[in-house]
This record gives sequence, structure tokens and C-alpha cells, in this order.
Amino acid sequence: MSTATVTGVAGEDRSDLSKGESRVIRQRSLRLLGSLVAPMKVKVTWTLVLVVVSTILQVSGPALIGIGIDRGLPALLKQDWMPISWTVAAYLAAGVLGALTIAWYTIASAQISQAILFDLRTRVFLHTQRLSLEFHESYTSGRIISRQTSDLDSIRELLDSGINQLVQGMLYSGFIAIAIFAVDWVSGVVLLCSLVPLYFLVRWFQKRSQVLFRISRVASAKLIVHFVETMTGIRAVKAFRKEKRNEREFGELVEDYRDVNAKTIQLFGLFDPGLVMIGNITVAVALLIGGLRVASGSLEIGALLSVLLYARRFFDPMEEMAMFYNSYQSAAAALEKISGVLEEQPGVPEPAHPIKLDGARGHVVFDDVNFHYKPGRDVLPKFDLDIPAGQTVALVGSTGAGKSTLAKLISRFYDPSSGAVTLDGVDLRDLTQEDLRRAIVMVTQEAYLFSGSVADNIALGKPDATIEEIRRAAQAVGAHEFIEALPDGYDTDVNKRGGRVSAGQRQLISFARAFLANPAVLILDEATSSLDIPSERLVQQALQTLLADRTAVIIAHRLSTVAIADRVLVMEHGRIVEDGTPAELIGGTGRFAQLHAAWRDSLV
Ligand SMILES: Nc1ncnc2c1ncn2[C@@H]1O[C@H](COP(=O)(O)OP(=O)(O)O)[C@@H](O)[C@H]1O
Ligand SMILES: [Mg+2]
Repeated sequence: MSTATVTGVAGEDRSDLSKGESRVIRQRSLRLLGSLVAPMKVKVTWTLVLVVVSTILQVSGPALIGIGIDRGLPALLKQDWMPISWTVAAYLAAGVLGALTIAWYTIASAQISQAILFDLRTRVFLHTQRLSLEFHESYTSGRIISRQTSDLDSIRELLDSGINQLVQGMLYSGFIAIAIFAVDWVSGVVLLCSLVPLYFLVRWFQKRSQVLFRISRVASAKLIVHFVETMTGIRAVKAFRKEKRNEREFGELVEDYRDVNAKTIQLFGLFDPGLVMIGNITVAVALLIGGLRVASGSLEIGALLSVLLYARRFFDPMEEMAMFYNSYQSAAAALEKISGVLEEQPGVPEPAHPIKLDGARGHVVFDDVNFHYKPGRDVLPKFDLDIPAGQTVALVGSTGAGKSTLAKLISRFYDPSSGAVTLDGVDLRDLTQEDLRRAIVMVTQEAYLFSGSVADNIALGKPDATIEEIRRAAQAVGAHEFIEALPDGYDTDVNKRGGRVSAGQRQLISFARAFLANPAVLILDEATSSLDIPSERLVQQALQTLLADRTAVIIAHRLSTVAIADRVLVMEHGRIVEDGTPAELIGGTGRFAQLHAAWRDSLV
């Protein structure tokens, strides 16, 4: 008895696709499958030959027993040992070789399926990592996780057991049918008759199980989604005391899942006995007809024994073969989804003919840029901006004005819809990712720490940095004191007890990282907003160091940060509405002057 495989997450039903789209998707999966199998053609062919040989050896047993009885025994009674010795030797040889070939192809087919899975797993990981931010903003991490886990699992199940069992089962039953006909055609006809009820039983099982397995997959996917959402949103769950409601919802989902599993078990409870019954009746009929013919002398007793042994074995692989369709279906669905991810193109492709950048100076220009995330909804309608090398620019404006979008365009997480963003006169699209990432660094509010030590996390900015450089970077941004105070100082594991750092401290670590990276252009997108006022004061001083000698764009929601800027830009609805030095704007009568006055009043 097999259990259902979990595939995908609810809401990815394909029933609303047109015929043409389904064909394109099927071709896409076949292409992927072909590319996975192609490097292993020779091995696959070899394995197939082995399976055929192995099955023939396994099927030869009952025929040899029959021959032993019908030829060997009479000869033995006449003191002729030869025939029985030969059949016993052949039986033994078939048994030993059969076992060896089973071992051989089991290993070979496992190697093939492991190689395919390894290849697929690596491809999914490398490809999703290469895809642009644009993809990751729309494709949730939950879906990527199910590509890597449950989808690959159902493919593994198909490769590991499904295909093996289908091929073996088909060969086994096929060779047995041939053997029965070869030994005694009348019994062959009896076996053929049993195929009629068998066909209906298997059809009924496939139809029912297909429905049940689909329901089961959806139920378990819902269960997973509910679980993941509860756990990732556990703070909100606790803050709003949603536990009781979650408990009820989860209880219902668990019950649905249990119900459908109970139904699946009932289905097997009918299918398995059905199979056994058809098998037993077939053997009984073959025994009745064969017995009568042995009595009348038209069939030898050994032949009857072979036929009966064959008839029993014929039904052995039926359950696995009936199950194949289910594992095939979930694997096909999984392959379709995986091939979909693999054929996603990065929104910001690497240039075919990159222009080398030797030591960027940091002159950033927006040249007649238009940008939208979705067609028809311009975020930056028509944007021109020139930031000379070394300038510190503060960017302010209300939420949704397009500040972060501007930052993402400078870091080339997106490309402009039209126009160009240039660095030192070179279109960002002509730079290699390597040059670009070295020249331009963005620090955002979500200062992410990877597992590892504090020093490792700072060294991300410059992988070959010495511990001295790491310390200097931490000192420069004012992070040194708190790092020294951690249990193991710079070697403290950020995920271990005692290594837990606050949001503000995380932010300081990410500043040290950026300082160490020493880019020509640094962008801080609300990077200080998770800091409290005293830490922010501290960072203010650090910022002076961090921003010296480089181009900087600071997006700040606290106006105190603006004081260290050479130039302030006020942005509204994707346009720059004010542009000047802090002193000019504060002294003027525009939006910034109003904002600044209101802010100053709030301080006293
Ligand atoms: N990934 C995205 N997809 C679609 N629209 C987006 C996306 N990110 C931002 N926007 C939209 O672009 C506009 C500008 O957003 P953003 O640049 O984040 O503003 P700000 O950082 O100034 O608050 C907003 O209207 C926002 O809804
Ligand atoms: Mg923003």
C-alpha cells in the first residue's frame, strides 16, 4: 500500500488552462526530461537490457520445475540422472543469475535516478538564485520551497519505484503470459479470460484513486500552507490572540486530511481482495480444466504445475502497476511546475559584451528614464537626475513616492522600462554583475544575517578580508563595542544562544559589511529606521565615515539624517519636486521647509 505524494501548494490548479497552453507546458516538461536523461543514454540502455535479462531468468523457474517433473523424473526412474541434474543445475543458475541481475539493475537504476535528481535539484537552486528580484517578489518563498521539496519528492518517488515497478511489472506479466502459452495454450486462454474482470477492476481503482489522491494532495497542501503561515506569522498570531481560531481551522484541515486518507485505505481494502479473488479464481479454473486434461492424458502433470505457478504469479505486480498512474500524474505535475521555474528568464540579464569598469568613480545619471512594474502604471513617469561622483544625496518624500524604486534602479535590481541609468557614463546593462556589485551597494532596512559568526557576516562585503580589516570596519561604524561584548566577540555565532543581536545591532553589522565592501556608490534605503534615537545618534557619526569619499544616496524618514547631505531631493509621485542644499531648502518656502519646521517643532 502506498501513500499519496504531496505536490505543490493549493491554488496552483491547472484546470483553467486552455488546450494550447497545456501542450506548451507538456512540451516544456518533455524538453526538461530529455535534457535530464540525455547524458545517461548509455546507462539507461544498459539498465533496460539488464531488466529484460533478469525478468526472463526469474520467469524461467516454474517452466524448469515442469520440465524437471515431466522429463527428469521418468528418466530418473530409469536410473538416468542426466536430465534431472541438468534441470536442477539450470534452475539453480537461473536463480543465482536472477538474483545477481536484480541487485545489478537495482543499483544501476538507483544511480540513474539519483543522478537525475541531483542534476534537477542543483538546477532549481542555481536557477532560482540567479533569477531577478522581480521574480522573487511575485513567486513566494513557499512556492519555491515546494519546488525543492515536495515536487522533487514526487519525481523521486516515480523514478525510484514507479518506473521500475511499471517496467518490471509489465515485463514480468508479459513474459509469464508468453510462458503459459508456450507450456499450454489452453491455460493461456483461461488466463486471457481473467483479463476481462481484471481490466474493469483496475479501471475502477484508477478512477477512484485519482480523485482521492487529488483531494488528498490539496488537503495536505492546505495543511502545510496553514502551518507555514501560522508559524511565520507567529508574532501576529500571538499579538492578536488568533490561537483559538487557528486551532479550530487547523483542526478542520487535519480532519479533512484524515477523512480522505481513510477513504483511500477503504479503496485499497476493496482493490486488494478483488485482485486476490481474481487470481484465485483463475488458478482454480486452470486447475479444474488442467486436472481434467491430466486425467484424460492430454496434459502432463509437470506442465500443469508450471501453469498453476505462473497463473498465481501473474497477478503479483498488478497493484504496483495500477498505482503507477498516480505517481506518474503527481510527478508529471511536479515536472511541469519545475520546468516552469527553470524556463523563467532573469529580468536583468548579463550583458553579452560587457564593458569593463576599472575602479568606478561613482557618477550616477538617470537619462530620460521611464519605469513601471506593471504596464500602464508608471512609477517614474519621466526621470532625469545627475549625481556627481562623491556627492551625498538625501532623498525624502512620502510613502509610495518611488524612493525605493529609484534605489532599486541604481542597484540594477530592475532595468528601466525606457531610458538608461549610467555609472561613470556606462549603461548599467553593459556592466557585469561582478563589477556592478563591487561598485554599487545597497543597504536596506532588512539587515539579513546569514548563519555563521559575526565576523563572517561582516566579511560578506569582502570575502578575502583579514580579521584586522573586519575590526576596523566595525570600529568605523561604531559596532566594535557591542561585538566585543558578545560571548565570543567576533566569533559569536549569530544563531546560537547569546549570539542573538537586536535589530539595531544587525543594522550596524550590515553597515560594517558595506564599509568593508568599500563601494563607489552606497545606497541606504531607510537603513537607520530600525534604530532607536541613541543608536541612531551613534550611527550618525558612523555615517559620516561611511559616506566619506563616495557617492551616497540616503533615503531617510527621520530628517536628522538630512543634515549630513550635500544635497536634498524631495520626491512626490515619481517626480523630483525640490532639489537643493539642505540650507537652501530649509530657508525656502517649499515642501521641505514645511516638513523641516514641523519636525523641529516636534523636538521641543
Ligand atoms: N514590486 C512591486 N510591484 C508593483 N508595484 C510596486 C512594487 N514595488 C513598489 N511598487 C509601487 O511603486 C510605487 C513606489 O513604491 P516605492 O518605490 O516602494 O515607494 P517608497 O519607497 O517611496 O515608499 C508605489 O505605488 C508602490 O505601490
Ligand atoms: Mg521605500
